[in-house]
Amino acid sequence: MKAITYSNYGPPDVLQLRDVEKPVPKDDEVLIKVQAAEATKSDCEMRSFKYSVKWFWLPLRIALGVRKPKRQILGGYFSGEIESIGKDVAHFSAGDQVFGTAQLRLGAYGEYVALPASYTIVAKPSNMSFAEAAAVPLGGLNALHFMGRAKIKAGEKVLINGAGGSIGAYGVQIAKSMGAEVTAVDSGIKEDLLHRIGADHFIDYTKISFASNGRTYDVIFDMVPGSSYTACIKALNPNGRYFSGNPRISVMLRSVYTTRFTNKTAKFAFARETKEELLNRLPRRFLWLNFDVFTPLVTDSTPNLSDRKPTWRSRTEYIRNDYVRHIRRQVKLYKRYKQLNADWVSLSIEHSKLAMKLKYT
Ligand SMILES: NC(=O)c1ccc[n+]([C@@H]2O[C@H](COP(=O)([O-])OP(=O)(O)OC[C@H]3O[C@@H](n4cnc5c(N)ncnc54)[C@H](OP(=O)(O)O)[C@@H]3O)[C@@H](O)[C@H]2O)c1
Repeated sequence: MKAITYSNYGPPDVLQLRDVEKPVPKDDEVLIKVQAAEATKSDCEMRSFKYSVKWFWLPLRIALGVRKPKRQILGGYFSGEIESIGKDVAHFSAGDQVFGTAQLRLGAYGEYVALPASYTIVAKPSNMSFAEAAAVPLGGLNALHFMGRAKIKAGEKVLINGAGGSIGAYGVQIAKSMGAEVTAVDSGIKEDLLHRIGADHFIDYTKISFASNGRTYDVIFDMVPGSSYTACIKALNPNGRYFSGNPRISVMLRSVYTTRFTNKTAKFAFARETKEELLNRLPRRFLWLNFDVFTPLVTDSTPNLSDRKPTWRSRTEYIRNDYVRHIRRQVKLYKRYKQLNADWVSLSIEHSKLAMKLKYT
């Protein structure tokens, strides 16, 4: 099979398209033919091994390979079709369409990935495309985890820092669905998108710091590494809650102090990304936004984005056939594409900005 591989940590050039052995599922595993995989910030971090939060380096280096990557195919979030199952797998069959996470096994940047059936892999809703589904687990599960822990009450003021990213954009939608008044912080190009998915207010971090405008919040959800802890805590109301998805060691220590000795709470957490959440809690409740999804993952063709005619598919009232926005998105995708430097990866522009509303139950 073909796969995007890397055998050394480093810049985008370390990625290579290669023919590798097709995986064979073990007794408790499923073999999935990958249809789409999300290109995430985490993939870039694991490729370069540059982490803004320095302490991540050691445990991840031990887990992923000290001198070179143990698992040479990146890709943690995918959708696809089950091709075969191991003899002990009872709840999947060949032909099932699924989506989910590959955890630190990774491998979704290959045509096939073999994963334990016990991983967070669930049936893909029939009203989602493969590309849409691949974009859900990272952002959706992480945001759901944090928003759940924040115990948001209707009417509370919630600020999401890094709101235009994979996780933040779901955070906006989930906080909104819980009845919060949401302030989204990100760069100006995402303002329109963030208002469309429910943000009440927007702050462009390239122009102003949200912590310096005198406004305060009941919950701050911070996905940006390197934010000022002092400024975030100052921007909380009494009994306010601060959640960091990228905690530095100093933030972890100070969180304990803040929670114990002040009327504010600071927490850091890592989402568990469970099957139950993906199966039962997310799909029925939230909009799906698609970010940088490549589909199909691997082809031999070299895409020429300037020649590519933009296509646009609309599924709900949330989608507007807005050509200007689409072009902007293309530019951003192209940047991410350049970052991966994968001139052999086919970039599916048509999936770049779909959103759809699944039935609320
Ligand atoms: N705790 C956990 O369980 C967990 C799990 C997964 C990931 N993470 C971490 O969470 C972070 C976010 O992940 P992601 O996948 O959502 O990343 P992402 O898609 O790259 O999103 C990050 C967003 O933050 C914006 N941003 C950058 N600097 C900012 C600033 N100073 N102020 C406000 N916004 C800013 C970025 O905008 P620009 O386009 O302007 O850069 C981007 O929209 C990553 O660092 C990742 O490693 C944590």
